[in-house]
Amino acid sequence: MYSYENYHKVKEEIEARRKKAIADADARDEKLRSISEEIREIDGELSKTGLIIFKAACTGQDIAPIKERNKLLRAKRAEVLRSLGYPEDYSDVKYHCPICSDSGYINGAKMCSCFHEALVKATIASSGIGDLIEEQSFDNFELDRYKKDPAVYEQMSGVLAKAKEYASSFRTNKTNILMIGTTGTGKTHLSTAIAREVIKQGYDVIYDSIHNIISDFEEDKFKSGYGPYEPKTEKYLECDLLIIDDLGTEFSNQFTVSCIYNLINTRMNHGKATIISTNLDAEELSRKYEGRIYSRLVGRSIILPFAGRDQRLGGF
Ligand SMILES: Nc1ncnc2c1ncn2[C@@H]1O[C@H](COP(=O)(O)OP(=O)(O)OP(=O)(O)O)[C@@H](O)[C@H]1O
Ligand SMILES: [Mg+2]
Ligand SMILES: [Zn+2]
Repeated sequence: MYSYENYHKVKEEIEARRKKAIADADARDEKLRSISEEIREIDGELSKTGLIIFKAACTGQDIAPIKERNKLLRAKRAEVLRSLGYPEDYSDVKYHCPICSDSGYINGAKMCSCFHEALVKATIASSGIGDLIEEQSFDNFELDRYKKDPAVYEQMSGVLAKAKEYASSFRTNKTNILMIGTTGTGKTHLSTAIAREVIKQGYDVIYDSIHNIISDFEEDKFKSGYGPYEPKTEKYLECDLLIIDDLGTEFSNQFTVSCIYNLINTRMNHGKATIISTNLDAEELSRKYEGRIYSRLVGRSIILPFAGRDQRLGGF
């Protein structure tokens, strides 16, 4: 699920849009009334209609003639508008989303696509992926780049297929992914592509390098010693999908090791998925991380072995 913060933020944005659309329409009407005596009179009459209908209904009077008069007043108003050179819909409220009239919901129940789109945007913004998400997708991950080497081509076709399958079946499968490969082989590219698809499906995703994640844990540890404090690391435990980039580049000590273990283990215990990218190969991983981390990283993840040359250098 999208985070409460994003949901709340987007809901307020849509509500603000709705209020602005209504206020703008009111301002246009106010302007009309200030320049046209006729409009002023008609609007005065129209504003009484509700009360007149209510009274008539209460005393059992026929309301059809009132409605008819109302219709005539509106037609007259439209005519005056035209004669003043204004478009017919000048007084209408111009909602940003005509489908839900900026309420965010259709018939008060189903979430409108405008709400969903805004949530996707907000979740991308808070995910930490930044601009990468605009540039890196499944669609622009080119297999042709590996054509000259059939073995690499085959391996990368498999990696891409597995990444796509993972993204499309995220709802039912929350296995971890371990992306292994040397620099520039597309690990970040494909994790970003997965993130985009998963966010679209309604999930909260957080992306960051192991370095920044550990810094946040250090900060939390330090600041929590000084009284009430809003922890920075909760998001790493709570998000539906955590993407840890560049594992292995961090300086290793007891604190970082326990951080990494707790993070991976807690998430696994809660059935939450984590994607981890590393430049280290299996042997280097086993040397750098103790058994209980290594077994979770390697033994209980889908392993995607990236191949090919550094794509930043344009190599194949
Ligand atoms: N198959 C591909 N098709 C298109 N672009 C690619 C492909 N592979 C990599 N790239 C591009 O090459 C650049 C390097 O890829 P990326 O950053 O994903 O590598 P990486 O494996 O994360 O490297 P590092 O280990 O240094 O972080 C990026 O701009 C990425 O979009
Ligand atoms: Mg990378
Ligand atoms: Zn809408």
